Amino acid sequence: MKSFFSFIISVTRPFWKYATGLWLVSVGWALVVTLQPYVVKQVIDTVMSASGPQLYTKLLWLLAAYLGVGLGFISLNFYYDFLIVRFFPAQKEFITVKLMRRLMRYPVSFYQKHFAGSLTGKINDVVSHTSNLIEIFADNFTTCFFTLIFVIINMVYIDVRFVWALLVWLVIFLGGSLWMLFSHSDLSYYSAEARSKVLGHIVDLFANMSSVRLFFRHNHELRLVQQIAHKASLKERARDRFFLKLHLFQGISFSLFELSCFYWLLSGLSNKTISPGSFVLLLTLNLQILNQFWSLGTEIRDFWEKMGALQQALGTIYSVEQIKETRPESELVVTKGRIDFKDVYFSYGEGPIFKGQSVSILPGQRLGVVGLSGGGKTTFVNLILKLYDIQGGKILIDGQDIATVSLEGLRQAISVIPQECILFNRSVEDNIRYGKPDVTEEEVREAARKAQIHTTIENLPNGYHTLAGERGMKFSGGQRQRITIARAILKDAPILIMDEPTSSMDGVTEEELGKAFAQVMKGKTVIMIAHRLHTLMEMDRILVFGEGKIVQDGPHEQLIQQEGLYRKLWNLQMADTKKK
Ligand SMILES: Nc1ncnc2c1ncn2[C@@H]1O[C@H](COP(=O)(O)OP(=O)(O)OP(=O)(O)O)[C@@H](O)[C@H]1O
Ligand SMILES: [Mg+2]
Repeated sequence: MKSFFSFIISVTRPFWKYATGLWLVSVGWALVVTLQPYVVKQVIDTVMSASGPQLYTKLLWLLAAYLGVGLGFISLNFYYDFLIVRFFPAQKEFITVKLMRRLMRYPVSFYQKHFAGSLTGKINDVVSHTSNLIEIFADNFTTCFFTLIFVIINMVYIDVRFVWALLVWLVIFLGGSLWMLFSHSDLSYYSAEARSKVLGHIVDLFANMSSVRLFFRHNHELRLVQQIAHKASLKERARDRFFLKLHLFQGISFSLFELSCFYWLLSGLSNKTISPGSFVLLLTLNLQILNQFWSLGTEIRDFWEKMGALQQALGTIYSVEQIKETRPESELVVTKGRIDFKDVYFSYGEGPIFKGQSVSILPGQRLGVVGLSGGGKTTFVNLILKLYDIQGGKILIDGQDIATVSLEGLRQAISVIPQECILFNRSVEDNIRYGKPDVTEEEVREAARKAQIHTTIENLPNGYHTLAGERGMKFSGGQRQRITIARAILKDAPILIMDEPTSSMDGVTEEELGKAFAQVMKGKTVIMIAHRLHTLMEMDRILVFGEGKIVQDGPHEQLIQQEGLYRKLWNLQMADTKKK
């Protein structure tokens, strides 16, 4: 609750002038809706009491006042719209940037835990609901409150008993409503959570649509969607049933108040203690109160629902403490490119992957990494990149502990060709440029040539300006890999990490690329993970990973002589080649 309010305050503070403006307009509205019936009361009382020319001058003044109030109402509405134009779009922009600034610093594990779709939905909830809540607060809550104040002032002059009745009703109405809302606040939260799960599920389903088609599992998927949508609908039904009860309570309490008002009005009129004008005024004011509080009743529901969704979204978005890197002690300076693992302990959460792993990669060394699938190869390089924090030991680059250097400097020192190459849905050129934005067009093309992808790109209808499609889907796996290789070539960092960079390529392209790689690797520390061992024969040294442990270490010639996993893998692959 506290973080909810502090969030609303933090995103409204920069726009406090507009927010205050909205609030003042709402007070103005309350004034107008009570002034109008007051002028009408004066008209009636004047008609009943005065006559002749005096009546007409009085009426003329009253009509002018009536017109004035009407014009005031129109101006207020105009000013309100003007404020909205200035306030909400700018605030939405502010919130989007604020949230994204935070989210972009989160560790990879956060994104693995949350569906991309439900995260997107949550950002949308925060962005749109914040302004809605502010609007409901100004528009309804404030207007209601001040209408009440102005009505009470009017009532005091007519008969103070109405004020007491109104106050008693108000205590019952508000007390009861708030008590009911607070004791059921979890209903909105849970239904928002269930809704967001449905959204996340559907986005995941869209991402896997090709599998659904290939396995022809449409009915199965539809059943799953129905199950989870049904759960959400049960939660929503529980929430709506509650609101039904709330409205029933509000309706009954108001009717009782109306009844007592009628009784006093009629007796006052017959005793002549209440003028016909006041009679009409009170009836109209009661109607205003009913209108305002009735819409308040529905708006409270909207408010509650949106507040639930907003709290839910903020809970997820703010669930991670900002990543540790508060103030890096130093900037990483890579002169040689030596990497040391010292007693590294790491686990993703369940069983440990590395239990005290130590290994040194010498400057300029070309290191091959092989091993069983799931052996920890990708994890090994992810730790060097500080995509995850280690739980024990140290990783040093040129003697500097990566835990203490800035992430920016660390990532600048390393080029990566990841195992899964995903591209932005932007032009191919922008994708290649990503690692080094300020290079010339010619440099981009040169990198693409080295990565054996230039001709393919040139043959596209829009050449280098072609959009890559969502996640780069317009390109084949091998083409995506080559685009990422061009990106790494361009970045030209002193340490180069490749996670199966040629796994989706045919032999010919792989051979061609081999030559380019030799050039790119020159003078760099290189880590290349590969399953096809022949791609690693040129490497200075090979690490063999068996379940979370380096089981062998040495150049190809040496490893092949030893009894062990490497020889086993090698023999299997050779036998396979011979068969072919
Ligand atoms: N983000 C993650 N969260 C939890 N466990 C993970 C995560 N990534 C990997 N693992 C686990 O860590 C182990 C090592 O995975 P890793 O990706 O490093 O293997 P790998 O050697 O690269 O395998 P492959 O050759 O198949 O790419 C696996 O058992 C895997 O299940
Ligand atoms: Mg891997």
